[in-house]
Amino acid sequence: MIPHDTIDTIIQTARIEEVVGDYVNLRRRGVNQIGLCPFHNEKTPSFTVSPAKGIYKCFGCGKAGNSVNFIMEHEHFSYPEALKYLARKYNIEVEEEEQTPEQLQELNEKESLYNLNLFAQQYFSKILIESEEGKAIGLSYFKERGMRDDIVHKFQLGFSPGKWNAFSEHAIQLGYKKEFLVKTGLSIEKENRLFDRFHGRVMFPIHSASGRVIGFGGRILGNDKSQAKYVNSPESEIYNKSKTLYGINFAKNAIISKDNCLLVEGYTDVISMHQAGIENVVASSGTSLTQEQIRMIQRYTPNISILYDGDPAGIKASFRGIDMIVEQGMNVKIVLFPDGEDPDSYARKHHPTEVESFISANSVNFILFKTRLLLGETQNDPIKKASLIKEIVNTIALIPDAISRSLYVKECSGLMTVPEQVLMNELNKILRAKVKKSSPDQEKELDAIPPEQPASEPQVEFDLDSAEFQEKEVIRLLLLYGQEVIPIKLNPNDEAEVPVGVADYVVHDITHDDMAFENTLFKSIFDEYVLGVEKDAIPDRTFFLSHSNQEISTLAVNLVFTPYELSENWLKNNIMVTTEETRLQMHVMLALHAFKSRKLDKMMTETRKKLTGATSQEEQAVLMKSFHELKKQSILINKDGLGRIITR
Ligand code: CTP
Ligand code: MN
Repeated sequence: MIPHDTIDTIIQTARIEEVVGDYVNLRRRGVNQIGLCPFHNEKTPSFTVSPAKGIYKCFGCGKAGNSVNFIMEHEHFSYPEALKYLARKYNIEVEEEEQTPEQLQELNEKESLYNLNLFAQQYFSKILIESEEGKAIGLSYFKERGMRDDIVHKFQLGFSPGKWNAFSEHAIQLGYKKEFLVKTGLSIEKENRLFDRFHGRVMFPIHSASGRVIGFGGRILGNDKSQAKYVNSPESEIYNKSKTLYGINFAKNAIISKDNCLLVEGYTDVISMHQAGIENVVASSGTSLTQEQIRMIQRYTPNISILYDGDPAGIKASFRGIDMIVEQGMNVKIVLFPDGEDPDSYARKHHPTEVESFISANSVNFILFKTRLLLGETQNDPIKKASLIKEIVNTIALIPDAISRSLYVKECSGLMTVPEQVLMNELNKILRAKVKKSSPDQEKELDAIPPEQPASEPQVEFDLDSAEFQEKEVIRLLLLYGQEVIPIKLNPNDEAEVPVGVADYVVHDITHDDMAFENTLFKSIFDEYVLGVEKDAIPDRTFFLSHSNQEISTLAVNLVFTPYELSENWLKNNIMVTTEETRLQMHVMLALHAFKSRKLDKMMTETRKKLTGATSQEEQAVLMKSFHELKKQSILINKDGLGRIITR
């Protein structure tokens, strides 16, 4: 554990522009600095660094955070790893506090698993290259498949000896613990004896994104149908299959520079493609992509090309899975290989330039691909065609971006010879149904989405019943101005105003009226302020920006970067604003006013609902009373508006 004082020192010392500057070429623009985002591919810079606030935000991909988050994201470091990196950069000494035995054990356990896997990988490679058995069986197999030495070496391929416990025995002799042999799955324990999971197989180590060995796949050598072709490591503390893509460590940079990720099925496809010089390729290892895997790819590119061996039935079966990728906002292309060929066999039979040009010539956008394939089956049967239209429009409706949606409608209408308007109507029907489904009572105020919201950021949707927006504004003001002071009249009849801290005022005002935050993140931030007011130590912005809870720090960064929206306009149109101080005062008043009036509305709606359901007269009377109370408050606050709040 790094002591809190040290964490503070690191965060205060690390200058965001210097930390980011090590990776991104930054240029000055106004008070900020901008550059090309390192987290997604872009040609014009939308990655913004604010030295004053100590944070960064990409207006293209939405990534945002402080120095620590930047290093975590960029280097795939954990929180303590990122802190240590920054400490080294700024020569800050880190004396680690004693870790609790549990923490130590967890850390040690993971490290032990990594260590053991590394040892196993080196063992299998050594057997492959140096032992008679390995050379005669394993290496000759790879040679037969046309794999070059440099590729065998690069992918750290290996061979597990035929003997049933060769590896386990060797590892135990060298002092590796049985517990970890079992946990990595390298050994299987039966009646107190250790058996090797892998024997007589060629070995494919599976790496994490940062290149550590987290598991293995082992292939039998022949075509013996009675044995499983591949045996794979089971999941462990360091190997989570749904979060792993085979080859990602070798492919990362190429995916970024090509701005595209090729997806294949198996280990050998990845390897043969590399051998052909195509490196932006990963394998899903025979299953359809999970959300986590999609997000992993999305860190590097929004474009994915799925390479299939030519079997239409298999492809059709995967349509649902591909819909999910489309839904994540990725551009999906399909590359169909000739019958009987997969990327591996094709790459072995053809010259690398041919492979490359085959892929680019045969990439077809998924939606068009699906349309063509299904269209081929309708054979002008009108009923089948109608269901085809529904099917295709359903997929188009998943695309988050409206412009892309309308482009696909245009293209598909041409392909299917169906008027564009027919597709549009169908599409709108689905979209409307979706909106209704996510908020059954009310249609959303779609127009209320602020236009300056960058397209790729999760869109803020306004539910008329929710107080989210008002809560957010209060929190935003606290984060930005919590420690500042505004002039307040303590009593309605006072002439003079006295200076009051913004956090003080907001906290008192909200708690006095017994109003609570619904959003749990906002609530936990607000609670920190309540505590701060009690202890007379208002937390400053940095506290939240560098909060160890990622959700809080990301939220804080995003709020601090949000420009004035509603209240700015309101101020312009309604009030003569003189000084910065009164301006801030107005902002605070407006936010509190909106917050409370929304809360009151909600409470009234709820009471009204309960009233219609009330059975006894007593119950009705109680509810009526509280309804009138609420109504009174609401009239007050809305009639006097700001006045009431200022002079409460
Ligand atoms: N797979 C598996 N277990 C199996 C079959 C397949 O885990 N019994 C996974 C492996 O990750 C494999 C991928 O699915 O790489 C694709 O399967 P397949 O195309 O059969 O294997 P290839 O890797 O192409 O192997 P080869 O070319 O040697 O047949
Ligand atoms: Mn294959």
